[in-house]
Amino acid sequence: NTQIYKIDSKAVDHQKMEEAAQLIRSGELVAFPTETVYGLGADALNPQASKKIYAAKGRPSDNPLIVHIAKFEDLEDIAKKVPQEAKKLADAFWPGPLTMIVDKNEKVPYETTGGMDTVAIRMPDHPVALELIRQSGCLIAAPSANTSGRPSPTLAEHVAEDLGGRIPMILDGGEVGIGIESTIIDLTEKIPMILRPGYITKEMLEAVIGTVQTDPGIIAADSTKKPKAPGMKYRHYAPKANLMLIDGAKCAVVDKINELTDAMHSEGKKVGIIGTDETVASYRGDMVLSIGAREDEDAIARHLYKLLREFDEADVDVIYSESFATPRIGQAIMNRLLKAAGHQVLTV
Ligand code: TXA
Ligand code: MG
Repeated sequence: NTQIYKIDSKAVDHQKMEEAAQLIRSGELVAFPTETVYGLGADALNPQASKKIYAAKGRPSDNPLIVHIAKFEDLEDIAKKVPQEAKKLADAFWPGPLTMIVDKNEKVPYETTGGMDTVAIRMPDHPVALELIRQSGCLIAAPSANTSGRPSPTLAEHVAEDLGGRIPMILDGGEVGIGIESTIIDLTEKIPMILRPGYITKEMLEAVIGTVQTDPGIIAADSTKKPKAPGMKYRHYAPKANLMLIDGAKCAVVDKINELTDAMHSEGKKVGIIGTDETVASYRGDMVLSIGAREDEDAIARHLYKLLREFDEADVDVIYSESFATPRIGQAIMNRLLKAAGHQVLTV
């Protein structure tokens, strides 16, 4: 049975947190909110605890976990050497949605790094996450708290849907702020390399450490290059229904989606549509959801996974989505959406 504790982020209940901390110390799993998505936490330096994460999620064992820390010294404690960029990036963006990859030392078990000699580290910007790390006295390995292959959880209810009954505790801190996973930057490369785009953009990183490259394996659709982050190769973030993106000028997109919807309806299929506040009234799908106002990139990022889950619940057969290559975090949003769509894009 899974305990679900509501925790007020503005007044963290230390007694409930102590129960969670105790579970972490004893090698058990606790799901907790971060500013990006919910994480499924365990003692990062305890190999048996890390193994439980893979079992609960059904995650392939070659897909490494992110180690969550509460102070920069924790990075120094588990890194083989501390790259000079790490300090600068931490000063600029930690706590926050940035994960850094550095060479690991012998303290970090291979169970946590999926057999790799590097380790991914992040200081989350959420009072519940930080308090759990501090109160447990552990570093906390945590992937997103979804079943492997499902969209990442942005609400405690999503965690309960996927992992209820399989983990002892969920800390419910309400809806997360950002809604897509952290940016991952690999500092073991000569030129630091983005392995996963996120809220912290290439431009923001370059303003602090100079030239940064992006892993070519995460951009191309029919990439022959394998992404460097093992997790990026899996069809991930995927809804059950077939999802297709329609890209182009606003009116052409609305027209095309309506045309496709009619064709599906004539086959007796149930259609889901992802539109924006500006367009939802123009569609005639069976379930038409707005991801937010087109100008509001933060809302688009925050609502994406929740919408994909809602379509799963409604059992639609196909989903048509507008495209959201917005100026700032559009790259991160489109990275997730394209993966969810298996790179099916129709340009009109
Ligand atoms: O925002 C986030 O990062 C959330 C919250 C909970 O912190 N966590 C998260 O974890 O997204 P997860 O496990 O769903 O994604 C971790 C990604 C995977 O793609 C994994 O392959 C990559 O990080 N990764 C972890 N360690 C790595 C390493 N040493 N080298 C390359 N990629 C690594
Ligand atoms: Mg994940």
